[in-house]
Amino acid sequence: MSTTTEWLTSLGMSEYAERFADNKIDFSVLPDLTDQDLEKLGVVLGDRRKMLRAIANLESVEKKTSAVTISAVAPAEPRHQDTAERRQVTVMFSDLVGSTALSVRMDPEDLREVISAYQKCVAETVRRFGGFVAKYMGDGVLVYFGYPQAHEDDAERAVRAGLELIAAVSALKSPASLQTRVGIATGLVVVGDLIGSGEAQERGIVGETPNLAARLQALAKPNTVVIAEGTRKLLGNLFELECLGAKDLKGISGPVRVFAALRAGSAEGRFEALHGSGLTDLVGRDEEVELLMRRWSKAKTGEGQVVLLSGEAGIGKSRLTAALLERLASGPHTRLRYFCSPQHTDSAFYPIIGQMERAAGLAHDDTPKAKLDKLDALLAQTSTSKQAAALFAEMLSLPNAGRYPALDLAPQQRRQKTLEALTSQLAGLASQRPVLMIFEDVHWIDPTSVEALNRIVERLKNLPALLIITFRPEFSAPWAGQSHVMSLMLSRLGNATRPPSSKASSGTRRFHLT
Ligand SMILES: Nc1ncnc2c1ncn2[C@@H]1O[C@H](COP(=O)(O)OP(=O)(O)OP(=O)(O)O)[C@@H](O)[C@H]1O
Ligand SMILES: [Mg+2]
Repeated sequence: MSTTTEWLTSLGMSEYAERFADNKIDFSVLPDLTDQDLEKLGVVLGDRRKMLRAIANLESVEKKTSAVTISAVAPAEPRHQDTAERRQVTVMFSDLVGSTALSVRMDPEDLREVISAYQKCVAETVRRFGGFVAKYMGDGVLVYFGYPQAHEDDAERAVRAGLELIAAVSALKSPASLQTRVGIATGLVVVGDLIGSGEAQERGIVGETPNLAARLQALAKPNTVVIAEGTRKLLGNLFELECLGAKDLKGISGPVRVFAALRAGSAEGRFEALHGSGLTDLVGRDEEVELLMRRWSKAKTGEGQVVLLSGEAGIGKSRLTAALLERLASGPHTRLRYFCSPQHTDSAFYPIIGQMERAAGLAHDDTPKAKLDKLDALLAQTSTSKQAAALFAEMLSLPNAGRYPALDLAPQQRRQKTLEALTSQLAGLASQRPVLMIFEDVHWIDPTSVEALNRIVERLKNLPALLIITFRPEFSAPWAGQSHVMSLMLSRLGNATRPPSSKASSGTRRFHLT
C-alpha cells in the first residue's frame, strides 16, 4: 500500500481520502494522529475508532520482519489478554487475474478503481460467510475463517465464499472483464503474543497455512478455487472436487495433494455429506426410536404428528433420524427431507428449494428447459395446478418461458400463494402414501420457511404425515404446545450406552458424552 488513499480504501473509508490529502496526511503522519485530530478532520466516531486500531496495526506491521506474520486491518472482535495460542484456521488467499496486463492497458487511475472495486467485492463476499479480511496485499486479499471468531464450519464457509467470489467478481462492472483465483488451506497456526504487543498481539498469525493458501492461489487456473488436503478432509462430500494431484510448492515441506472445488455437492444433507454412507451402529436411543415409531404408527392412521427433536450440537439428532429412516425403509411412504444451512439463514425458502431441486433431480449443467421439464414431471405426480407450478418455478429461479400463466401478483401475495401451494402439495402427496418429513437444523431456518412450517404444522393435523423438526437448544420452537406436537429433547448418553468412537469427520463436530 503506497498512499493513504489506498489505505483508506482498504478500510472501506475512501470518503475521507480527499480530506486526508488536503491536510497533507501521509503515512509518516498517520501514527501521530490522535482521536481529536481525526474529529477535527470530520471523521465520525465509529470510523475514528476503526482508524486508530488500523493505525496501531500499521505500526506493528512495520516493526515486523517475518514474511509469514500477517497483520489484520479491520478488527472488530473483543480483545483477550491471552498469550500465544494454537488454533485451527482456514486461510483464503484471492488474487485478481492479469492485473499486470491490465496495468499496461489501463490508465493508473482506472486501474486503481478496478482494484479497489475488486477488493471491496472480496471483502463483502467473505464477510457474508463470516470471513475476516486480514490484509490487502497488492491486488490480493488474505482472509481468515476461524479467527478471530471460530465457527464449526469454517472450512465449508471458506469454500462457499470462494465459489461465490468467482461469480461476484465476474459480474463486476469494469472496462475489462475480471477474473479471480482463490487458494484455501487449513491448518494449525499460532496466533498472538509473538511479535509486537497490545493490539498487534491478537492480529498476528504465524504458520505454514497462509503461505500454503498463497501458493495454491498462484497455482489455480483463473476463476477456480484450489484447496489443500487439510481443508478437503473437513468437507466430506459437501462439494464436488477434482483432484489435481500432488504438487511441490515453494516453502512447503513435501508434496501437497491439491483439489479444485467445483461446486456444492449433491449429497442429501449435511449429516450425509459429512459422514458418508458408513454410519457406526446406533448405540442406545432405544426409547427414542420406539417413541418415533409409535408416532409414525399414529400418523399413518391420518392423525398427523409433529416431533420437535432438540439437543446440543453432536448429541445425535441426525443420527436418530437416520435410524428412523432405516427402520421405515421397507414400508410404503413418501420421504421429504429439508436441510437448513448456516450460510443461508436469510435466504427465503432455502431448505424447501433444496428439497424440490433434489426431488426433481435438477443437475447443475441442465439447461433451463431441461430443468423445467424435470420440475413438470415431478409436479405431475401430484396434479399440481399451472399457477402453483409457475410459483414453484419462480421459487427455484427458473424462467417461466411462456410455459405457465404469467404471475400477476404483488410480492406479498406471491409469497402467500407459494405457501398455500406448498401445503396443497403436501396434502396431495399424503393422499397417495403416508409422508415422513424431516426438517433438519431449524436453528438456521430462514423466516419465510418458518412461515411455511407454521402452515405445514397446522395443515398436517388431519393428514397421514409425521414431521420431525430438529434443532439445537438456542432455537425456541413456536410450534410447541399444540396437541399433535410433542417435544423430545435428547440428553447425553450414559456411560453404559457410550458408542465406541465417533466417526465425525470434522474436527469441531464432536460426540458429547457425560
Ligand atoms: N446413538 C448413537 N450411536 C452411535 N453414534 C452416534 C449416536 N449419536 C450420535 N452418534 C454419532 O455422533 C456424531 C454426531 O451426531 P449427529 O451428527 O447426529 O449430531 P446432531 O445432534 O445432529 O448434531 P448437529 O446439531 O451438529 O447437527 C455422528 O458421527 C453420529 O453418527
Ligand atoms: Mg445434525
